[in-house]
Amino acid sequence: MDVINGERPSREVLGTFPSGVVVVTSHDLSEPLGFTCQSFVSLSLNPLLISFTAARDSQTWPRIRAVGSFCVNILADDQREVSMAFAGSRSDRFTAARWWKSGPGGEPALHGACAWITCSLRDEFDGGDHTIVIGAVTGMSIDRRRTPLVFHRGEYASVLAG
Ligand SMILES: Cc1cc2nc3c(=O)[nH]c(=O)nc-3n(C[C@H](O)[C@H](O)[C@H](O)COP(=O)(O)O)c2cc1C
Repeated sequence: MDVINGERPSREVLGTFPSGVVVVTSHDLSEPLGFTCQSFVSLSLNPLLISFTAARDSQTWPRIRAVGSFCVNILADDQREVSMAFAGSRSDRFTAARWWKSGPGGEPALHGACAWITCSLRDEFDGGDHTIVIGAVTGMSIDRRRTPLVFHRGEYASVLAG
């Protein structure tokens, strides 16, 4: 067992916790918006609430906040390129996946995802170099044939063996 100090080793420790991967999307007057996120959690069943954290230096989150509604796309294990596209510096992120307009706000639902959760922004709290976002669920859809993508120790994996 090693005792860990410092930011870089801390990332190693925190990265041992596996998570799913989502893309949070919305649509403002000019274009579709989205970014990759692993901090998504199911927060409350009654009322139905979800949460994720967005980095303080995120370019996309302030634009989604201004819209006030978004779609959480839970990625499938064959969507690693989608995850990378929405985490990179390319301006054409939405060429990585076909999408359709979900809900009344037209939040992009990415084709091939496992599930889609449309939300209205309910609250935001200080989370250090991130902001803690709480969304009130307005709609949900699922594709039961798909298996979720996992992120663990800086790498993509599937919950299926092999
Ligand atoms: C697997 C994975 C998980 C990520 N999780 C988060 C997250 O939870 N919150 C966040 O703000 N950024 C997260 N990121 C980083 C953002 O996707 C990345 O910084 C992106 O470029 C942000 O785009 P933006 O500046 O347009 O908002 C993650 C990236 C990857 C690859």
